Formats: sequence, C-alpha cells, structure tokens
Amino acid sequence: MQTMQERITEWTNFLFIYKFALDEIDTKLTILNEEFQFVHQHNPIEHIKSRIKSPESIKQKLERKGLQVTVENAHEHIHDIAGVRVMCSFVSDIYKIYEILRKQDDIRVLQVKDYIQSPKPNGYQSLHLIAQVPVFLSDRTEHVKVEIQIRTVAMDFWASLEHKIYYKFDKTVPAHLTDQLKEAAETVKYLDEKMKRIKDEMEQFKQDEGIPGREEIQSPLLLI
Ligand code: GTP
Ligand code: MG
Repeated sequence: MQTMQERITEWTNFLFIYKFALDEIDTKLTILNEEFQFVHQHNPIEHIKSRIKSPESIKQKLERKGLQVTVENAHEHIHDIAGVRVMCSFVSDIYKIYEILRKQDDIRVLQVKDYIQSPKPNGYQSLHLIAQVPVFLSDRTEHVKVEIQIRTVAMDFWASLEHKIYYKFDKTVPAHLTDQLKEAAETVKYLDEKMKRIKDEMEQFKQDEGIPGREEIQSPLLLI
C-alpha cells in the first residue's frame, strides 16, 4: 500500500513527463513556423496554446469511463493530458503543419480526426491528432501522447464561444442558440474560403509584379 506522500510523488512525476512532451511539441512548432517564414515568407501559425489537464478533470474523465483513478489508467486511457492548440491563418496551413509533423521521425501519429472534412453536427471544425513523442529522461525514455488540435483563427473564435455557451447552459443549450451557432459555423467556413481566395489573388499579384520576397531583401550576399 502506497503512502499519501508516495502517491503525490507518483502523480507529480507522471504529470511532469506530459509537461516535457508539451515543451517538445511547442519547440517543434516554433521551429517550423520560423523556418517557414524564412523559406516561404509566410507564417503558417498565428499562435499556439498549450495546457496540462487539471488533476480534477483527469479524475472526472477516469470516473466517467468507469476506471479507477490510477497513474496506469490515466496513461493508458486519457489521450489529452497534454494538449496543444495551434491556430493557423488558412485551412491549407492546417494540413501543411499536419503533413510536416507526420513525417518527423520521432513523432508517431496514433489517431487523426478530421472535423474540417466532416464537421461535428453542431458545426465544430478542427483537425485533431493524437501524437506520441519520446521524452528522454535521465534513466529511461517515455513515449507520451499529446492531443494536437489544429484550426484556423476563425474556427477557434467559434469553438471558444460555443464552449462558453455549452457550459453556461450546463450542456443543454436551447435550440434557438444551437441553430444560430450552426449558422455561425457556416459563416466561419465561408470566411475561411473567402480569405483563401484573397490570399491566392495576392500571391498571383506578387508573382505578376515581381515583388521581391523577404529572402531577396534580406540576402546576406549584400554583406559580403
Ligand atoms: P473527449 O471529448 O476528450 O472526451 O474525447 P473525444 O473522443 O470526444 O475527442 P474529440 O476529438 O471529439 O474532442 C476532443 C477535444 O476537442 C475536446 O476536449 C474539445 O477541446 C474539442 N472539441 C470537440 N468537440 C467540440 C465541440 O463541439 N465544441 C468545442 N468547443 N470543442 C470541441
Ligand atoms: Mg468529446
């Protein structure tokens, strides 16, 4: 039988490993974004948010699944202890980020849910991945799951409001509000498509006019 102190230490060590996994994914995404800016003169990522699931939510989720609250069950059955949300400018950026992450040698994508191709009935859109990354510790390597949600800024705006409404009404939202949310989700889709068309036109214009990219402006050759 473990003492209270031993159990606290066990959970603390366990949660720390998820923090390291989040740090790794965070670094990978930041590098990607900076490299993309340099090579393609375009920032695919607007911003990144990450969080470790609270002990209370971990407990509730295990209980909801009818499981005992143990470190082993949390490791095995909860996939979103470490969560990263990546906000992109354009839908095409979402799939670019996904493709690049998928090809990285140390990342294993365990699950993909494409709620952009197939939005949820309420209108929710995002690309969800469960990815596994190795965390190298002093005495062992742990393979840690991270939930990565990739969405446009417009999709994020919708999801955060929907989330607030869902909890405000204690998960039973009146029909006139769900209808309006569904309509707003259509508007999000329209806006993302519109933004894409504007970007495509802008890129075409840049090519036609021969406007120099950042690469040319910042060529180190000028310094040599
Ligand atoms: P859990 O919801 O985590 O139990 O797992 P699941 O199997 O239902 O996973 P799913 O990929 O559908 O959702 C995981 C996460 O995506 C949620 O915890 C939310 O953060 C987000 N999400 C999913 N559906 C919705 C939605 O309808 N509205 C909002 N605002 N967020 C959602
Ligand atoms: Mg869910």
